[in-house]
Amino acid sequence: MADAAKRAAAEAAADLVQPGDRLGLGTGSTVAELLEVLAERDADVTGVPTSEATAQRCHELGIGLLDPARVDVLDLTIDGADELDHELTATKGGGGALLREKVVASMSRRMVVIATPDKLVDRLADTFPLPVEVVPFAVGPVSRALTELGFDVVVRHGDDGSPVRTDNGNAVVDARFPGGLDDPAVMDVEVTMLPGVVTSGLFVDLVDTAFLGHPDGRVDVVSL
Ligand code: A5P
Repeated sequence: MADAAKRAAAEAAADLVQPGDRLGLGTGSTVAELLEVLAERDADVTGVPTSEATAQRCHELGIGLLDPARVDVLDLTIDGADELDHELTATKGGGGALLREKVVASMSRRMVVIATPDKLVDRLADTFPLPVEVVPFAVGPVSRALTELGFDVVVRHGDDGSPVRTDNGNAVVDARFPGGLDDPAVMDVEVTMLPGVVTSGLFVDLVDTAFLGHPDGRVDVVSL
């Protein structure tokens, strides 16, 4: 019952929301549960969505949207993650929304990750590859450079066989690091500095708390 576990994490995060809050609204199946919870509670909130999919769901549920150009600071961002380590460094971008997710996280006073306990790992990018958003022109050179850094690289393709494009028109390269990353913060800088990389899916010093939901409704809280 993975949905019950995601729901439990979403409910716990929704308990932090205050009337009038300006939220960062993440992307993915766990955030989909959160949006349902906010709508069911008739929460008095508005939010900056991190993807067209989240924006669309907010429209359907009646959750008001904000333009990031018109917001200085967000009260709280709630988002999913692909992996999370014990220092609360996360990898994100499995759904291709990493750039907007990172922009929104950086606008927020506080970021909460909602996920299931299987996302918590000792070393990042060993099991689930690190997504890297790349301008299409640079996919070849960036893939070669990532390989030189020690990654196993796959350019992400959709079900129709064509290269994936993000909401920003960019490609995604999925980069697995066998054995996991020694120092995610250093690797984030190395990857992000490659010409043609828009952003890496590493979220360093951005996550404050993680709620990890279990199918029976229990929620593990991980804070630094
Ligand atoms: C979107 O690009 C990702 O960062 C998601 O937040 C991440 O993949 C988590 O998604 P789920 O909640 O569906 O596991």
